Amino acid sequence: MILNIASISGDGIGPEIVREARKVLDKVAEKYGHDIIYKDVLMGGASIDVHGVPLTEEAINVCKESDAVLMGSIGGNTSTSPWYKLEPSKRPEAGLLAIRKALNLFANLRPAVLYPQLRGACPLKEEISKAGFDMLIMRELTGGLYFGERKTVEENGEKKAIDTLTYTESEIRRIAVKAFEIARVRNKKVTSVDKANVLDSSRLWRKIAEEVAKDYPDVTLEHMLVDNCAMQLVKDPAQFDVILTENMFGDILSDEASMVTGSIGMLASASMNDTKFGLYEPSHGSAPDIAGKNIANPLATILSAAMMLKYSFDLHEEAKAIEDAINKVLDEGYRTVDIMSEGMKEVSCSEMGDLVTANI
Ligand code: IPM
Ligand code: MG
Repeated sequence: MILNIASISGDGIGPEIVREARKVLDKVAEKYGHDIIYKDVLMGGASIDVHGVPLTEEAINVCKESDAVLMGSIGGNTSTSPWYKLEPSKRPEAGLLAIRKALNLFANLRPAVLYPQLRGACPLKEEISKAGFDMLIMRELTGGLYFGERKTVEENGEKKAIDTLTYTESEIRRIAVKAFEIARVRNKKVTSVDKANVLDSSRLWRKIAEEVAKDYPDVTLEHMLVDNCAMQLVKDPAQFDVILTENMFGDILSDEASMVTGSIGMLASASMNDTKFGLYEPSHGSAPDIAGKNIANPLATILSAAMMLKYSFDLHEEAKAIEDAINKVLDEGYRTVDIMSEGMKEVSCSEMGDLVTANI
């Protein structure tokens, strides 16, 4: 099979972690007889430095012509980087929002899994963490507050800022369908998270979620208010399978969910449209403080590459080979510094990539 992959290294630790993910993908291609054609694309600060904008039309087109996009991370230190002296629409993050919109990547899948080997890193009490957890946050990614009308106006001598949270029925329906489809091949439970006791958009969300649920009698639907969900994630994370939620709630809850795993350096993500096309990136940020030191954890990006093989290319055996290799390396006690614990063997970013590659 020929895999056309747009590759966005981005900023901070991005280039280091993408390098390792590509190393692993190349080994998979060699072993299973595939050809990977990478096209490098600039985005975020890396694009600002060259083109003055965080994402060019040409970059979008290269991504559109590819089968999938592999991405590292974008953005820099918000208080010291010159990128943040630019107006908001020219900053690195604007590139990320623009690519999500341009490629119609409305479904953001963010798994949060407690790895048995890393249970010690979980900040929750043993009595809670011992149950383990494996959830997937299905975050709506191209609507809501992020893309509603916004403006700052002057009224009665003071400034007033307005952000709008809008959702149409079809926007809710298509993400709900994705959530139910994936719940069907997981543990058959969808928790739809909203703020229906206050927001109209949430009441519509709830109504559509219920309509979609009728087509999936084998999947259980429950509703949960977002503030309660924030509590439940630390009180009893094992109760969750698929969490379906709107853009902003998903942004916040997915950070919380990843924190309770204790190892955000391990969490992958996929952002999909309604075809097989997707953008795959780690859930963590660009960590500018450790950039260039070869100490970042590349596993989230490598796992994102595995998600890419699964969801965009239907290469399930190949994806499993990557996941198994990672488990083996963890079982053997190798750890990057972020997940290091006593008695384990500390390795660099590139050594971790080599170890995974060697186990493919
Ligand atoms: C994320 C990030 C982005 C978001 C930022 C960088 C715009 O926090 O992917 O979760 O809020 O969506
Ligand atoms: Mg976020």
